[in-house]
Amino acid sequence: MSEKSFKRYTVTSALPYANGPLHIGHLAGCYIPSDIYVRYLRSRERDVAYVCGSDEHGVAITIKAKNEGITPQAVVDRYHELMKDSFKTFGISFDHYSRTSAPIHHETAAGLFKELYDKGEFIEQVTEQYYDKEAGQFLADRYIEGTCPKCGYEHAYGDQCEKCGSSLSPTDLINPKSKLSGNSPVLKETKHWFMDLGRYTAFLKKWILEDHKDDWKNNVLGQCRSWLEAGDGLQPRSMTRDMDWGIPVPLPEAEGKVLYVWFDAPIGYISSTKEWAQEKGIDWEPYWKDKDTKLVHFIGKDNIVFHCITFPAILKNLGDFILPENVPANEFLNLEGDKISTSRNWAVWLHEYLEEFPGKQDVLRYVLTANAPETKDNDFTWKDFQTRNNSELVAIYGNFVNRAVVLTHKFFEGKVPERGILSPYDLEVLEEMADFPEKIAQSLERFRFREALGIMMDFARLGNKYLADTEPWKVIKTNPDRTATILNLALNIAANLSIVSAPFLPFTAIKLKETLGLGPLLWKDAGKDQLLITGSEIASATLLFDKIEDEAVEIQVNKLLASKKQNELSNAQIAPMKDIITYDDFAKLDMRIVTILEAEKMKKSKKLLKLTVDTGLGNRTVLSGIAEHFSPEELIGKQVTMLVNLAPRKMMGIDSEGMILMAEDAAGKLKLLHPHEPSNQGSTIS
Ligand code: 2FM
Ligand code: ZN
Repeated sequence: MSEKSFKRYTVTSALPYANGPLHIGHLAGCYIPSDIYVRYLRSRERDVAYVCGSDEHGVAITIKAKNEGITPQAVVDRYHELMKDSFKTFGISFDHYSRTSAPIHHETAAGLFKELYDKGEFIEQVTEQYYDKEAGQFLADRYIEGTCPKCGYEHAYGDQCEKCGSSLSPTDLINPKSKLSGNSPVLKETKHWFMDLGRYTAFLKKWILEDHKDDWKNNVLGQCRSWLEAGDGLQPRSMTRDMDWGIPVPLPEAEGKVLYVWFDAPIGYISSTKEWAQEKGIDWEPYWKDKDTKLVHFIGKDNIVFHCITFPAILKNLGDFILPENVPANEFLNLEGDKISTSRNWAVWLHEYLEEFPGKQDVLRYVLTANAPETKDNDFTWKDFQTRNNSELVAIYGNFVNRAVVLTHKFFEGKVPERGILSPYDLEVLEEMADFPEKIAQSLERFRFREALGIMMDFARLGNKYLADTEPWKVIKTNPDRTATILNLALNIAANLSIVSAPFLPFTAIKLKETLGLGPLLWKDAGKDQLLITGSEIASATLLFDKIEDEAVEIQVNKLLASKKQNELSNAQIAPMKDIITYDDFAKLDMRIVTILEAEKMKKSKKLLKLTVDTGLGNRTVLSGIAEHFSPEELIGKQVTMLVNLAPRKMMGIDSEGMILMAEDAAGKLKLLHPHEPSNQGSTIS
């Protein structure tokens, strides 16, 4: 390739907020692609620092803490460990995974802010912001709720309406309310430090829209263009916030203010590199300052503006830092046709996946890469997961390797058989094989991971086809020497597969290498046709992939359906509160615990049951409209609650002398109200 070659690589993946467990959207967005890239680079013996860490600041954390009634520190401590663990289990091979609460990060971020401040980079601006008097604090956008001026939705946030998607400012909201106290907030003056991004427009336009117009992805260029070419240009952006959780602004007059999470988070990449270098006893600076270092940020599309506009402007101003060579952002992954959502539990959580599909990390890695939202939003479905596993991993990759290994054991005592004279077809296959590593590499270097995976699978197909065409299981009957040659080639193809599939399927590749008795191999070894020593022993076949049955995916689909149902219930309209009554009004109601003695269906009525109840004051007849909800048998002997002083009412010729009380949920389902332990008949309720 004619591209510039680099001495080293710094590869970053977006720091995930430590406010919840990881799901497939995270993996598909930026962790699997970056891991594939880095594993490939390492296999090419490139010098790489692959860094990440937990993003522990910002309202994402404080809102979670508030919802759970715990401290922000407790939130981040819990999720930092869980996320770190999930990444490791899925083979995301960070060189270092740090966290933004680490002292080294606080020092680095505050230090860089101060450096920019001393250079006169910030404009100080006093603006009016919403303040909650009762809570005694300024309100972050997400702490304000009100009516959307565009669509009338009553629970729009201060920065966005989730109903119509409009982006808003807190002062756009009609009837704003503080989510902390429920009160109407007041506007109060506050001082903040803004970066005048407009000053960088010319530099950014040239750097992104000209210098990188051919190598950055279209979705990234498109977003950058819409920011850089917007009519009113790039607006100043505040780099500080009024909050008590985060990195204190390192200025004496900034008490109670912290660095904006989007100022400090990308600097987390630098701190993570510093921590990694410190542990290794090497210098971190070349990874961020040497022009021969290729810096690549893997992110999701919601992070494009911060990584392509704000952070580069900061790096540019600092002067001695390099800029990213590429920012290969992915679009979003949906799940079964709907947006992944933590609050609606519409997600496949990684820790749950592992419990349900133990040892199948590579299957998920495979499916998420094959379906990666590289150029547009994409959908994960359990059906596709099953099909890709059964018809691709099992039927192609697994089948090929299994046949090569099993036949070697059957015909050659598990030893790599000797190669004889090669047929023209053998030579053709070997020639084709030799081309694969470079083809895969070219796609990987261009961040086309789906394409690269497809080529890798074509290589496995080549092996499968070779066995199907040469039929060693038949040839053995007439020509053992030819069979030996075929299996020698097949095993060498499998050895090659272990190299080129390793970035995508790291766990499988290790198993395959172990089965074939191979030592460490590098990308440069791929394409060679004699990786195995004739006569060397191979282990017996282990199942690399096994079939996923219909029942297993049905369980997953049903789980999602249950979430959907739960969401529908919780979204259903709650009946509005009735008018206020006095205690005297309430005291007029005589409600008691009664026991149902008899129950029968009323003839000619679908709805009514005729109940005989013991009220403690004597037996009564009550007609209750619950026949569609309960069978008579299940009611007999039950203690329930009843309004006993309701005026009798004649229905279908019978006097109904009271009313059985029910709870009705939002879906219209009726539930009887039982005392929590057996009570005397006629016990009063007050
Ligand atoms: O969107 C997010 O999840 C952010 N926590 C990403 C931060 S990326 C980087 F700047 F660290
Ligand atoms: Zn709206």
